[in-house]
Amino acid sequence: MGGETAPLLPMLTTMPSQLLAWFAAHGRDLPWRHTRDPYQILVAEIMLQQTQVDRVLPKYHAFLATFPSVTALAEAATGEVIRHWAGLGYNRRAVNLQRTARVIVAQHQGAFPREVAALRQLPGLGPYTAGAVACFAFEQDVVFLDTNMRRVLQRTHNGPAVATTAAGDRQLLEVSAALLPVGQGWAWNQALIELGALVCRASSPACPRCPLRAECRAHAAWRNDDETLLAAMGAAPAVPLRRAAEERASYRSSERFVGSNRWYRGRLIDLLRAQPPQQPVLLSMLGPQLRENFGPADMAWLQQLATGLARDGLLVLAGEWVRLP
Ligand code: ADE
Repeated sequence: MGGETAPLLPMLTTMPSQLLAWFAAHGRDLPWRHTRDPYQILVAEIMLQQTQVDRVLPKYHAFLATFPSVTALAEAATGEVIRHWAGLGYNRRAVNLQRTARVIVAQHQGAFPREVAALRQLPGLGPYTAGAVACFAFEQDVVFLDTNMRRVLQRTHNGPAVATTAAGDRQLLEVSAALLPVGQGWAWNQALIELGALVCRASSPACPRCPLRAECRAHAAWRNDDETLLAAMGAAPAVPLRRAAEERASYRSSERFVGSNRWYRGRLIDLLRAQPPQQPVLLSMLGPQLRENFGPADMAWLQQLATGLARDGLLVLAGEWVRLP
């Protein structure tokens, strides 16, 4: 990898000031950008991991109204936390978030550690989330990558190819650390996220309004592609072609999701959310609500589905009876 790594070009030294100026003018006014409370920031970052900002906003407010502190979350019944996670998907995040809250209360006197290494010890906190809490709550100048940040750094620094390898990530983290303006890690990391969400989008990058386009390697490559294409066939620019292909791919993947194991897991938890708290229900009663023409032959499948959810702490299974924890 070393030999292929692009050198840090002098042109990229203008990137921080361009990006921070753009963020100051165009960054969204989001509630988790007004707080430095590590608990609130952790809740936001966990919710935002797999869910769009618009969908997270009402859930974020409602969740914090119900569980206003790390202690309140630690002390709640796990079933209540899962109930309040409804509509967000990936329910394991709710269980892990509460596990973290319980560790903070039991082992850290209710106070979050500030350092990335200590945050990484908490259940379910990977390098991204630990970095995000250290930076967004404690304003530490640390670097980390999520999909948006990775895309911005990869495109500006390396070009259009999608970055997927661990070595690729290491290089992008080095780039980010080298560019991060001292004392401005909070704004730098929020700005990378924001540019990736609003401008440097995966399927339809809005290069004409990007503050980094003049020196972006992906933009240079696409401009060449488009000029070649236009010269060859007088066609429309290439970006809409890319977008159409990616929209088809995303439609196909949502088609595959319905009826998948993960989809049934989510539906089973939805059914349990509709039960009164702590009240067990027979699996055989839930089967027909889960699958059309559910019959005795499907019981083994359903039992296995419930066993997997119980292993993940998402339900309590006793024989053929199930309930939220
Ligand atoms: N996605 C992940 N973290 C985010 C943040 N802090 N602001 C907006 N979107 C995000």
